[in-house]
Amino acid sequence: MPNRYAVILAAGQGTRMKSKLYKVLHPVCGKPMVEHVVDQVEKLNVQEMVTIIGHGAEMVQGQLGGRSHYALQEQQLGTAHAVMQAAGMLEGKEGVTIVVCGDTPLIKAETMESLFKHHEELKAKATILTARIDDPAGYGRIIRNEKGLVEKIVEHKDASEDERKVNEINTGTYCFDNAALFEALKNVSNDNVQGEYYLPDVIEILKKQGEIVTAFQTNTIEETLGVNDRVALSEAERIMRTRLNEAHMRNGVTIIDPSNTYIGTDVEIGQDTVLYPGTILTGKTIIGAECHIGPNTEIDTCEIGDETVIRQSAAFKSSIGSHVNIGPFAHIRPESNIDDDVKIGNFVEIKKAVFGKGSKASHLSYIGDAEVGSDVNIGCGSITVNYDGKNKFLTKIEDGVFIGCNSNLVAPVTIGKGAYVAAGSTITKDVPGEALSIARAKQVNKENYVAKLNLKK
Ligand code: UD1
Ligand code: CA
Repeated sequence: MPNRYAVILAAGQGTRMKSKLYKVLHPVCGKPMVEHVVDQVEKLNVQEMVTIIGHGAEMVQGQLGGRSHYALQEQQLGTAHAVMQAAGMLEGKEGVTIVVCGDTPLIKAETMESLFKHHEELKAKATILTARIDDPAGYGRIIRNEKGLVEKIVEHKDASEDERKVNEINTGTYCFDNAALFEALKNVSNDNVQGEYYLPDVIEILKKQGEIVTAFQTNTIEETLGVNDRVALSEAERIMRTRLNEAHMRNGVTIIDPSNTYIGTDVEIGQDTVLYPGTILTGKTIIGAECHIGPNTEIDTCEIGDETVIRQSAAFKSSIGSHVNIGPFAHIRPESNIDDDVKIGNFVEIKKAVFGKGSKASHLSYIGDAEVGSDVNIGCGSITVNYDGKNKFLTKIEDGVFIGCNSNLVAPVTIGKGAYVAAGSTITKDVPGEALSIARAKQVNKENYVAKLNLKK
């Protein structure tokens, strides 16, 4: 097998996106487009991968880190000019170079592998990955001669009326003989409607030199989508979402309504878990087996055990054990650590809190900056008073504590093991273990007092 190299084009601004964010950094199912491309290219075992960066160079490089080499294209003079920037690293080397656009997030490694094979078998100097699509507007068209052999690629903006009728398009992915590519690039001119140096012009240059130039047509046309605007971005999102959802379903996850379930690329889900409509799972979320998630539930970067139920709730950057019951309408904020068999009921907010095994906060509570032991019962409406306007303080509730309804625990404060806090208490001092603490005004009943007030008409 010849040496393989890859060039990823990612320097453009992406004017048609109308965005502050550089085009290739726009996420598809939570991951920047260019990273999807790099994920796939990595599977091809290339000797060197060079990403061409320009607009947002630092951000793109920051995103991809050490996974690629980089070449800076200071001015975006076109795709041929972009590839030329990799000359310092690749020029003259023997082997085959695949060029991929950073804005084709759906391209798969298998398709690129087939392209390589086709290229190598035909001993071609250039092979274009092409597709036949219903609406080719905007794409470069593959122009073939009367024998059906590829002659050149014509950009949409430069194409004649007849050429525009061609529905075989350039997907923007190609294999080139590396040495021939860098030689041919020197002859590309910018004499076209956009005044740019077009990479596709290399095809005509090589062809005119009598070299073998071929096309490899893929049937999986959805892979070839180039994202130039937000309409295409949503199309890419829809296709990627279908792909991810289908993979999870094949792995044993039930998704009641896949068209209304959103799973990020890095999410893992165990067997027999059921996702109800309106579930959004993002970041590095890992969900165990036999869980029920949703409807209308958002979970970002959480690790969740088995047989846990989360209904109509939101959870972020936290860990949640097995057999936990959350919601409806609960909010688990970052850095919470919820152990097995816990119940977090309706209108309960947990923030940066440890919640021990078997503990319950069933209704209307705020538990923030807290360490809650195991088998604790937090009564309806009880809260930790963790903030004095400037600093946050810790509330410790030890194992087996019972907090009566509507209690305020003013931090810093510790409720000792097995203690009992009477309903309606405002606790400002530590409560020793096994003690009963009552911190509320004594009730006074004044007999027949209503008549004395003489308020009744
Ligand atoms: C390009 C192809 C077109 C093909 C289509 C497939 C050219 C001239 N045209 O068109 O034939 O059908 O892709 O999606 O190549 N880029 C740079 N530096 C530049 C210009 C672009 O790095 O100076 C990068 C962009 O960031 C982008 C990629 O190259 O990732 C493609 O550029 P874009 O402007 O989107 O080309 P298209 O008009 O889509
Ligand atoms: Ca494009």
